Amino acid sequence: MPLRKPEALLSYLLLLMEHKYEFQYEVFNDISELSEDDAWLLTEAREVTEQAYAPYSNFHVGAVAILENGEVVAGTNQENASYPVGICAERVLLGSVATIHPDVPIKTIAVSYNSEEVKSDHPISPCGMCRQALLEYETRTKSPIRLILSGQEGKVYIIKTARFLLPFAFTSDELNK
Ligand code: THU
Repeated sequence: MPLRKPEALLSYLLLLMEHKYEFQYEVFNDISELSEDDAWLLTEAREVTEQAYAPYSNFHVGAVAILENGEVVAGTNQENASYPVGICAERVLLGSVATIHPDVPIKTIAVSYNSEEVKSDHPISPCGMCRQALLEYETRTKSPIRLILSGQEGKVYIIKTARFLLPFAFTSDELNK
């Protein structure tokens, strides 16, 4: 340990105060490496991108959830001529789940996309606003949401809980609710 110089000692002490955030996720080369159930859900997400309304971005996103009670619910992004009015697939999905099956925990959500402009050969992950919405649903149902992320082909990421995607999250705990 280089403690001879005072500056070196100071940087060592600062290092001790630093904290690290990290999480683990699984990476698969393609859908063929998934379990039958996960492969089925991802295929549904890939297919439902067809239902997206994305005339402005041409970026069609599909999200499909399997719930604790076995029900399956899908969502796609719905854009608007007034751009900020558009909603991501994940939040369309969460709104539907919460309405059709209130308070039923979500086991897993698969997210995929399709675009005329970019290759759909790698996973995308939920935007910041959707991460906040996913975390709210996890907190509400006291149950982790597994995420399967992939394009129409190529690598698949599996993340154990949406919470991993939002460090230092602001949650209902802060509001004492
Ligand atoms: N989008 C989603 O629906 N989900 C994501 O995870 C990322 C982005 C949508 C929003 C917009 O309609 C289009 O993709 C381009 O950003």
